[in-house]
Amino acid sequence: MCPSKAELRPGPRLPGPVQTLWYTFDQPGFFARCRSQFGSTWTVRLPGFPPVVVTADRDAIKRLFTGDPLVRRHGNDLLRRILGDSSLMLVEPTEHLARRRLELPPFHGQAVRRYGERIRELFAAEVDGWRTGQIVATADRARAVTLELILELVLGIRDPGLRTRLGHEFETLQTPANNLALFLPEVLTRRARWNAWVYRPLDRVRQLLARHIAQTRDDPTLDQRTDSLSLLIRARDGDDGHVSSLSDEELCDELLTLVLAGHETTATAIGWACDLLAHNPAVAGRLRDDDGEAYLKAAAKEVLRARSVIYVSAARHVLEPFEIGAWVIAPGTLMLVDAQGVHGDPKLYPEPEAFRPERFLEQPPDSYAYIPFGGGAHRCLGAALAMLELELFIETLVQRVELAPDGPPARPVRRSVTLAPGNGGRVRVSRVRAPAIAAAA
Ligand code: HEM
Repeated sequence: MCPSKAELRPGPRLPGPVQTLWYTFDQPGFFARCRSQFGSTWTVRLPGFPPVVVTADRDAIKRLFTGDPLVRRHGNDLLRRILGDSSLMLVEPTEHLARRRLELPPFHGQAVRRYGERIRELFAAEVDGWRTGQIVATADRARAVTLELILELVLGIRDPGLRTRLGHEFETLQTPANNLALFLPEVLTRRARWNAWVYRPLDRVRQLLARHIAQTRDDPTLDQRTDSLSLLIRARDGDDGHVSSLSDEELCDELLTLVLAGHETTATAIGWACDLLAHNPAVAGRLRDDDGEAYLKAAAKEVLRARSVIYVSAARHVLEPFEIGAWVIAPGTLMLVDAQGVHGDPKLYPEPEAFRPERFLEQPPDSYAYIPFGGGAHRCLGAALAMLELELFIETLVQRVELAPDGPPARPVRRSVTLAPGNGGRVRVSRVRAPAIAAAA
């Protein structure tokens, strides 16, 4: 069965290139307009791509996340030229489950908690550098500190020189040209002589990572190390006497994926947390006075609800006819899960624009109403680490400083796949609380 175009949900009639530009440079405005005009599910047309269906329909999302993963292929192909064929995000459904089994243990909640002490140290060192009256671009600062953290704790890089070089190269991958390139047809962006300059930083990153993997494999202390790379190198999985482990190529693609998926996203969430707390001093005050973990966890969750770091939190090719209401989506169609549409739905979250951590204490949402990390077979591998980082940053922040706004609440602006605070998360430090006292309290 191959339903006709008429069976696609309606969507904007604008020419394809206009939709591409609007999507790239003003995703919040584009999505808001489409939702108000077409409801929870609509079709977007980008030149060079088959039609793409965007949905915030919870029943559809549930079926996308719980259905047979073999007929819910990932829709991450746009990232292939950056992450490589062996990235966990890109392997085909038949191999993906085994890869997940191999890679999951280092990222379990219990495994990442052992990084807590070091994460606290790094965050405290950052916030202790802030002074009363100073304007801090918190998203930029968070980017530096979360990169350091991921390079040390996940990649196990001890050499500060290598960390600095990699940090610089990763930063150069986040240009506006690269943002747009994500949406250009492959024929324009595949590797060629004319666009070699775009690929140069990526090639340098890969060389550095390959060298680091080789050195880690040869490290005589590998068995005692706790960084995620050493655990991934030691990981073994086996069925029917066949034991598999990760090859150098898989490890290289995976490290690139972990840094690119885990660094910018978490830094963006921290920048939003600072912006929200500066504009909501009562929440910051309750976090400071409330010694329970529950409110802290609720605040971290509310940050990711109130400000979706990634509007599209999952992309899946449906490989069988897929019904949404009266429509049948054709096999092969790319479906995008509109997380921001779900998180901003007033039926699920009354007064959705309000920053109210209490809502997670009063009536926790069901799994398909809270989806910052996507869901199903490809759910974010680093979710536990990301939540730990966000909670520890908020805890460190409220204990050590008080923040005030430096202007109106930030507007979301696209940075690669994230929607980051357009003002860099700029806030004013209104008061520094003595770190020693705060730490002892
Ligand atoms: C606030 C921070 C973060 C957010 C909002 C976020 C969000 C996401 C989302 C939406 C996906 C796609 C899920 C899907 O397709 O269903 C994803 C996948 C992934 N994330 Fe995260 N992420 C964050 C932090 C991290 C961190 C810290 C790491 C690791 C260091 C990480 C590693 C990954 C990986 C490896 C995948 C691919 C999983 C797969 O395809 O099987 N992420 N993330």
